[in-house]
Amino acid sequence: MRRPFIAGNWKMHLDRTAARQLAADLATSLKGIRDRDIALFPAFPLIPAVAAALEESPIQVGGQNLWFETEGAFTGEVSGPMLRSVGAVHVLVGHSERRHILGESDDWISLKMAAALASNLNPILCVGETLEEREGGLTEEVLSRQIRSGLGRVAADAMARVTVAYEPVWAIGTGKTATPETANAAHAFIRSEVEDLFQVSVSRELRIQYGGSVKPGNVDGLMAMPDIDGALVGGASLTADDFTRIVNFETRT
Ligand code: PGA
Repeated sequence: MRRPFIAGNWKMHLDRTAARQLAADLATSLKGIRDRDIALFPAFPLIPAVAAALEESPIQVGGQNLWFETEGAFTGEVSGPMLRSVGAVHVLVGHSERRHILGESDDWISLKMAAALASNLNPILCVGETLEEREGGLTEEVLSRQIRSGLGRVAADAMARVTVAYEPVWAIGTGKTATPETANAAHAFIRSEVEDLFQVSVSRELRIQYGGSVKPGNVDGLMAMPDIDGALVGGASLTADDFTRIVNFETRT
């Protein structure tokens, strides 16, 4: 059984005081939880304060992005070792906002996956099709390209540290969630691509999160699906009550 993994992506929200408060509230409300992994992804400057607020908590911290060189003349970028040094354990790679607003290419994302692993960070590779691509019947082609390229520089024995997040672009921040069946079909396809790239044991152990308007009201249905192993939560992770309810989704029977 794959251990559930719920992540909160705070995006470009909160200041230091608000981030520290939200992290402290979640450390309290999620105190007793031991059977699932939880991580928060604040903006870079907030990571130290959030990591400090979570020191006694099993909730972990991650970065929303990284650059693939370890240091050098890359103004405005942040490296894996820098993230580690301020308390990050995870990192998001290839989030759709980075792909579509900031213009990140598949090749950069592939290099970032390798850099994250080399820096001892656990990467979450984000993939997902746009509405146009879905309506054009291109969903599997897009997912296949993003998975094969994103995992192209990852060795089989490093795959235990990799999570994939399926985030259909049309569902992010729109209030339009994929139905559990639609999401599960995409997850099953991603798993079959990973089996093809590596081997069946790797694909069986891979955790695949769903992301895109996950809320307290839809999380149970999503998490009941066999190929959905967790959630990457944006908007609803900014409210302690909502995120707490999401993490406490009803366990599969
Ligand atoms: P959302 O964002 O939950 O606000 O749709 C998800 C994400 O972008 O990770």
